[in-house]
Amino acid sequence: MSLQEDLAAVQAQALVEVSAVTDTEALERWRVAYLGRQGTLTLLLRRVGELPQEERREAGASANQARVLLEGRLEEELARISALETERRLAAEIIDVTLPGRPLPRGRLHPTTRTIRDITAVFTALGFQVVEGPEVEWDYYNFEALNIPPGHPARDMWNTLWTDYRDADGNQPMLLRTHTSPMQVRVMQERQPPIRVVVPGRCYRYEATDATHESIFHQIEGLAVDEGITFANLKGTLYEFARRLFGQERRIRFRCDYFPFVEPGVDMSIDCFRCQGAGCAICSQTGWIEIMGAGMVHPEVLRRVGYDPARYTGFAFGLGPERIAMLKYGIEDIRLFYANDLRFLEQF
Ligand code: PHE
Repeated sequence: MSLQEDLAAVQAQALVEVSAVTDTEALERWRVAYLGRQGTLTLLLRRVGELPQEERREAGASANQARVLLEGRLEEELARISALETERRLAAEIIDVTLPGRPLPRGRLHPTTRTIRDITAVFTALGFQVVEGPEVEWDYYNFEALNIPPGHPARDMWNTLWTDYRDADGNQPMLLRTHTSPMQVRVMQERQPPIRVVVPGRCYRYEATDATHESIFHQIEGLAVDEGITFANLKGTLYEFARRLFGQERRIRFRCDYFPFVEPGVDMSIDCFRCQGAGCAICSQTGWIEIMGAGMVHPEVLRRVGYDPARYTGFAFGLGPERIAMLKYGIEDIRLFYANDLRFLEQF
């Protein structure tokens, strides 16, 4: 066979093979086989030099043409195959951006915390400051300084959880505070009037728990002491509080009540926000809902912290955020607050 015929055969063969190639590795093998140093075409090209002078020109031209053609094909195939491979990789690595994300559970405030914040927000807007105090308390602050001496029957109003701990003289026991009222005394000892504070915090009682009694609960204490504070200030402040928390149309009612550390002492009710006073299950058919205890700070309590009751007067109040939350959200059992049941907590 002449060189020309060999060239034509090799070229034809190479073109057939390259069209079957589908990846870069096979293409590289093809390149080496035809255009590499020992490649079939390269060897043919070398043979051109061995031809007699008169055949060399034409054979050289054909050989070159074949080389240019195959090199051109190589370029084309390289482009086609790398495009093909990119496509294949993209198909393999495809990300479905329409897949819904995995939900991240979202935290929320406990209903008690939320209610405490709602309530303290009203009082801070009225000029009260928020302070906190100890949950484990001396008998003195929880009772004695509040005009409830040892052995006084009024102590029975608070079912107390006592600790074994006593002061250095071995006289005074510590207890879990049964209300936030001890902070009235602590604040007055530390400051001078004018005083306007609210004290949210946890309280404890030795209770047989039921739907309305829990041994751990919260209170918010309020205290205002200054020259010239009267029962009218108490009424005005608590009226405004009731309207801001339960609606502008609320009415309030005071009735006499007894707490040893206030005189006069009252309990405050709001007219029922559900039935507007007509009588329903929420207000036990009375039209009124009791929401807190309050009163004018007892002169004896003022005297004990060194205030002159002839100069200073004050009012105090105490309310339970769980009870407020139960009313606002229609919660029927106070024990739900601390049962750690997400089905309950996630509703707030
Ligand atoms: N500390 C009282 C209680 O726990 C409530 C109260 C506070 C009453 C302040 C009057 C004034 O029942």
